[in-house]
Amino acid sequence: MIIDYKSTGAEHYINLVKALNEGRNRRATVITFGCQQNEADSEKIRALALMMGYSLTDSSDEADLIIVNTCAIRSHAEMKALSMLGRFKALKRKNPDLIVGVAGCMAAEPHVSNLLKNDFHYVSFTVEPNMLHRIPELVYNVAFEKKRGFIFGADGGDVVEGIEPIRTDKHRAWVSIMYGCNNFCSYCIVPYVRGRERSRASTDIIRECSALVACGCKEITLLGQNVNSYRSDISFASLLDRIADIEGDFIIRFMTSHPKDVSDELIEVMARRSPKIAPYFHLPLQSGSNRILTAMNRRYDRDIFLSVARKLRERIPGIALSTDVIIGFPGESDADFKDTVDVLKTVEFDLVYSFIYSPRVGTPAERLDCQVPREVSNERMSELLALQDEISQMRNDKYVGTVRRVLVDSVTERDGVLVATARTDSNKLVHFPARDDATGYFINVEIKRAGAFDLFAEIKE
Ligand code: 5AD
Ligand code: SF4
Repeated sequence: MIIDYKSTGAEHYINLVKALNEGRNRRATVITFGCQQNEADSEKIRALALMMGYSLTDSSDEADLIIVNTCAIRSHAEMKALSMLGRFKALKRKNPDLIVGVAGCMAAEPHVSNLLKNDFHYVSFTVEPNMLHRIPELVYNVAFEKKRGFIFGADGGDVVEGIEPIRTDKHRAWVSIMYGCNNFCSYCIVPYVRGRERSRASTDIIRECSALVACGCKEITLLGQNVNSYRSDISFASLLDRIADIEGDFIIRFMTSHPKDVSDELIEVMARRSPKIAPYFHLPLQSGSNRILTAMNRRYDRDIFLSVARKLRERIPGIALSTDVIIGFPGESDADFKDTVDVLKTVEFDLVYSFIYSPRVGTPAERLDCQVPREVSNERMSELLALQDEISQMRNDKYVGTVRRVLVDSVTERDGVLVATARTDSNKLVHFPARDDATGYFINVEIKRAGAFDLFAEIKE
């Protein structure tokens, strides 16, 4: 169901907390771990904090409300969040009124929520990602009733509309189009912590995008765990087409796609609307071995993957492709890893994000035998990184000598020189000496030099 946050009773608690905070100069900070979806959620949490009468600060030392928006995708992310939470114990001792809340994917995991409840007494609440609109109620319970609250498990029933995010940048914006995931890849925690797939109404999404463009936004990134299974009155491809119809000079990106769901319709819309729909595609491979893909429950094989990649390259000239690879999935043999290497050599991705497999509590893969020893995974990782460095360098070299229109993300001063960091429509990072703060502007640059991860350019007159 699609509901407005006001119909959830959130406003009642917002007003009560706001009255309490009145004239007290209370401050809130939101700390984000993990993916863009979490960044987007944090923008909504900040909006709730402002509505409750807090002002925003970047400093946890001076905050009266700290919300840590966590990621559960790998154990490394979890350890980082827990160690950060550990540091807040001292802050709580100094300021007994400090409220510390934990949001995001870790909060949804029952064993984590219980750990925080029992061993982190200064954590006042946990709230799973689908229940952000209940943060005011949780804050109220702590502030007025001295009652801690723990909302875990992934409910995932509703799409909650109406919380206007407080966006960090004016020129670029995340727009969630769907929540949750139904794929249950055997290694992945996401379906357990973000619940089942739910799509926003296309009218709500298009209205949000139109408003963003009207306010000068130059880059809109549509977000979903698997945007290709967007289900509403129109398909994902039509949604992209409609957003591209919005008048204005801006580009549209999206992530993430599941290779099994990339339709011909989507590829055709991208081909027709490029470069307004950015010629860039993140297509997660995970493994090049059919045996491992089956064990991962990915529901495509290497040939299907290769044919999607080929179609994208053929139909959308200049497209850049990136991918995710998991190294050391249980049972991955040298031959399986070689299959992955072969696919990387065949497709020649522009960029590869590689991760060592991390067992996640409650997922089917966690129960598999034959975990790959860490040293073996490390060796495979080094081999893959060395290979991909060469491939990325080769792909980036093709840009040298060309003129590209880039969107400036930021301008910083280094040794008295202004340096702009920008991206091509194909999502390549470009640095160049800037004359002024051109953040949020499209600029033509000539690419002079290429590294494996970024390009170096000069402004083209
Ligand atoms: N271990 C390692 N990597 C993982 N990913 C998802 N789950 C795990 C895990 N348990 C990776 C996948 C996914 C990316 C976002 O994170 O490659 O595409
Ligand atoms: Fe996880 Fe697979 Fe869903 Fe991606 S598609 S979020 S990897 S379960």
